[in-house]
Amino acid sequence: MVKEAEKTLGKPLCVAGFRIFQAALERGVRSKVLADVLQIIELAPLFSPMTPYGRKMSVQMTSAGRLGWYSDRSGYRYAERHPSGTTWPQIPASVLEIWQAFLPDAPPPDSCLVNYYGEGARMGLHQDRDEGDFSFPVLSVSLGDDALFRMGGTVRRGKTSSVWLKSGDVVVIGGAARLAYHGIDRIRFGSSSLVPGGGRINLTLRVVR
Ligand code: SIN
Ligand code: MN
Repeated sequence: MVKEAEKTLGKPLCVAGFRIFQAALERGVRSKVLADVLQIIELAPLFSPMTPYGRKMSVQMTSAGRLGWYSDRSGYRYAERHPSGTTWPQIPASVLEIWQAFLPDAPPPDSCLVNYYGEGARMGLHQDRDEGDFSFPVLSVSLGDDALFRMGGTVRRGKTSSVWLKSGDVVVIGGAARLAYHGIDRIRFGSSSLVPGGGRINLTLRVVR
């Protein structure tokens, strides 16, 4: 699946079945993707979803593509519209190119979740399982500040390993890891100057259907 990227980037760091391509995106690509993401945020502003348990998430989110990930008291799901009522912006070509390079055999993603981590934001251990189809990997892109990424297996209380994700890293979550638990324990706020005002942006591309 990732042979295109492996040709140019070499073997990924493999932790618990997660394939981590460190510094996969060149500086120019990072800036272009960031500019495109800032445009998405202009059209579909970031919001802080409420968990089904009634707690506001510390990560702010928005989406691009046909479907956007959403959560409120009724549960986790994909929605066809931003909370303002508009459809989600299109996934930018710069982002689709990354998917194509890493997953040339997969159909195009129909959802690109944009997560923004400001100072103190984190994401608890979870599985990505709101999609209708688990046959294709999830691809994640890190931009801006460093983040401590925790990876486990398919059992919540199982053993976990952690790695610091940096700006320009790409993670492919497929195969045995597709339904594995993962989360962000913390970020090193201010460790990168890429995102205006600081913080980290993560893009999660998925085939939802
Ligand atoms: C997620 O699992 O939704 C986000 C992971 C990350 O921020 O790297
Ligand atoms: Mn996830």
